[in-house]
Amino acid sequence: MTASAPRPVDSPQAGPHEKLAEVVARHLAEPFRKPYAAHTLEAFAAIRPLVENAGKPLIFDSCCGVGESTAWIARQHPEALVVGIDQSLHRLDKHDRAYRAEGADYLLVRADLNDFWRLAREAGWRLSHHTLLYPNPWPKPRHLMRRWHAAPVFPALLALGGRLEVRSNWKAYIEEFVLALEVAGIPSAVEPWAPEQPITPFERKYQGSGQRLWRCVAGLPSR
Ligand SMILES: C[S@@+](CC[C@H](N)C(=O)[O-])C[C@H]1O[C@@H](n2cnc3c(N)ncnc32)[C@H](O)[C@@H]1O
Repeated sequence: MTASAPRPVDSPQAGPHEKLAEVVARHLAEPFRKPYAAHTLEAFAAIRPLVENAGKPLIFDSCCGVGESTAWIARQHPEALVVGIDQSLHRLDKHDRAYRAEGADYLLVRADLNDFWRLAREAGWRLSHHTLLYPNPWPKPRHLMRRWHAAPVFPALLALGGRLEVRSNWKAYIEEFVLALEVAGIPSAVEPWAPEQPITPFERKYQGSGQRLWRCVAGLPSR
């Protein structure tokens, strides 16, 4: 194993957190009022006209990292504008222009998704597709609320609508995501995921080190 080969997720949690349903129900019932960070407000204001003047279906690639998947999705969906969002400038700066291909229309934005998803919902944006590929698992049980499905921003993610696909190398993360969707009345299922061709650096590393991968896909109703 090389130094950069990722290890499987190590957690005392073998399955969904016992408090998950309670936490999700609370977040669905209560508005998330945390003030927006200035850098995400600025980033949102900068791309807003580009998105709203594009007149195209909109796709989010959230937690896009270096944006390899963002470019790949844009090639698959030439009819759409794809926005890759990540908080890490370090990762976004590693975006390789070689990913780009003719007809691929995408933007990369540095922003905190805890704010960006809420701003997009408030602007009335609705997505055709949304990918969340290998989000940080936060495997310690006490960090449950840092996982996207147990975070206060989860209702905003749901309200953006579209076909949501979440992938992880931690089965419990996807099991929890499916349960959180169920609490919101949205059907989904845990599926094994074996990519023919990896579309992100993490997917490539997990596949290369023989890890099993999981995903869930859900049709989010427009709200
Ligand atoms: C494990 S990496 C996966 C990156 C990429 N999807 C891949 O598969 O190569 C998780 C990514 O989530 C991003 N991230 C974590 N929390 C975030 C937040 N609050 N807002 C935006 N991005 C976030 C990190 O910066 C990191 O790039």
